Amino acid sequence: MRLGINIDHVATIRNARGSFHPDPIKAAKIAEESGADGITAHLREDRRHISDQDIKALKENITLPLNLEMAATEEMLEIALDAKPERVCIVPEKRLEVTTEGGLEISNINDKKKSFISNIINQCNKSNIDVSLFIDPDIKQIESAISLGVNIIELHTGEYSNSPNNIKELNRIKNATIFATNKNLEVHAGHGLNFENVNEIAKIKDIKELNIGHFLIGESIFLGLESVIKKMRKIIDANR
Ligand code: PXP
Repeated sequence: MRLGINIDHVATIRNARGSFHPDPIKAAKIAEESGADGITAHLREDRRHISDQDIKALKENITLPLNLEMAATEEMLEIALDAKPERVCIVPEKRLEVTTEGGLEISNINDKKKSFISNIINQCNKSNIDVSLFIDPDIKQIESAISLGVNIIELHTGEYSNSPNNIKELNRIKNATIFATNKNLEVHAGHGLNFENVNEIAKIKDIKELNIGHFLIGESIFLGLESVIKKMRKIIDANR
């Protein structure tokens, strides 16, 4: 099972001060050295965390495959074709949401929207960029993903992550994975995963990749804060 590290929230902390620290590219390098299989970054329309420059720098400085999450818009398509990440993951985006709240709605949309998304898929594929669609673990959405012409889907695990004891939600992910795999789709999953709720998801053998971000960046504060404070103490003491 491949592990993609989403570094968005390193940029969130950096942007809180509008400066250069902490650098998401440095985080991506650490991920690379720590056994990650890919780097994921979501260039949001409002640029609240990752910036256009981050995407360029990731492509230039990181050897791991880059998975660019983006909304289905003309602007993002242009950026993707220019940056040439190894993969684009199309996600839904609402300006006021705190995070990606659900999967992309692709079964209940009109033909105009369908052809818009399928045009993005075709143009990316022509430029050798794989495309995945971030959808809920729902058979109808999977069927629509197939008709749109992708060969990868990422299942939204947010609902399960919020209530990991909800067997029904876990089974929905398992059944969606079986259904999609039987239709020759590669299945990825992500959103809200942590050290606990990842266990049941990691057991689903046909899920080929997980993309995890917020928890890892948050938890690294607790695993790293002690040594950072000790180092600052030492520097201050050395000057007295
Ligand atoms: N996969 C996709 C498509 C996402 O949009 C996100 C969040 O940006 C993730 C995975 C990672 O979710 P989290 O940050 O909750 O681990």
